[in-house]
Amino acid sequence: MPLGSELSASAVAHPNIAFIKYWGDRDSALHLPANGSISMNLGDLATRTRVVFDSSMRSDELFLNGVLQSGAAVERVRRFLDIVRSLAGQFICARVESENNFPAGAGLASSASAYAALALAASHALGLRLSEIELSRLARRGSGSACRSVPGGFVEWQAGSNDLDCYAFCIAPPKHWALVDCIVLLDTAQKEVGSLQGHVLAATSPLQAARLADAPRRLELCRQAVLSRDFTSLAEIIELDSHLMHAVMMTSAPSLLYWQPATLQVMKSVIGWRRDGLPVCYTIDAGANVHVICEADNAAQVRKLLGALEGVVDVLCSSVGGAVRLVE
Ligand code: DP6
Repeated sequence: MPLGSELSASAVAHPNIAFIKYWGDRDSALHLPANGSISMNLGDLATRTRVVFDSSMRSDELFLNGVLQSGAAVERVRRFLDIVRSLAGQFICARVESENNFPAGAGLASSASAYAALALAASHALGLRLSEIELSRLARRGSGSACRSVPGGFVEWQAGSNDLDCYAFCIAPPKHWALVDCIVLLDTAQKEVGSLQGHVLAATSPLQAARLADAPRRLELCRQAVLSRDFTSLAEIIELDSHLMHAVMMTSAPSLLYWQPATLQVMKSVIGWRRDGLPVCYTIDAGANVHVICEADNAAQVRKLLGALEGVVDVLCSSVGGAVRLVE
């Protein structure tokens, strides 16, 4: 490639919320998970990423929402681009410009949408035309949960046995079930232990083995609940799965305790509303914020109820989203 010439592409991807969680790796370098997981893409939240490979650049650059990044974030992107570069056999530095339409630091996992968008934009810019499976495997190398943001709708990530069969696929398209994730943003100042470090700690919990042994059963119950649009069964299984993951977090060494008093307040309120007949349930990732899941018909009411709770800063609602895609 002549000096000064450019190869570029842009892609948009949605983050996802896991119904059955990924927590712990069998192989942390390849992000081969200890268990399979199931998630739903969040269509109203998106990361848009433009990648420009420029033969005149001497090192990779990363801009997040217009701000030039340094340190660990750039290092992680550079390592990921190295994988794409070796796949394509082209060793050119890149400028990565990534923008989220959801608040940074809101405790929402943006690495899933970030690496799904980056996998598509970077591979396409370098002339690779990857299948959905190949793209999901590639995105997984950047962030485990990113492999689930490659296909659309309701997605299952099969743990597989190696790098080749460890990828995510769609189990039902976005239109299958009009679920809404009402993300309850709480007032939390502390910097939390990220999932990257958290996965390493999972194996130190004496509860992780039991959580893993029961994972096939939970995956099956969740899959069936999604396929048959059975909210009652979905509520039961996703709350159990979230509690199991947090039990592992709390009992790992060192212990990870993500919940705040307001987290528990939201959990208890949701349980109470459900007891009163409102179909609603919750799941919590590696943070204090609560993802409250309901059907679209009830979303306005759920949002209003959540907004009235003490300690709630904001509620972001999202319907089910599609697959990663090229833009422009
Ligand atoms: C708690 O995939 O974000 O959200 O691969 O280390 O970036 P890395 O971790 P990530 O972990 C997700 C953890 C989780 C559960 C889930 O989404 O399944």
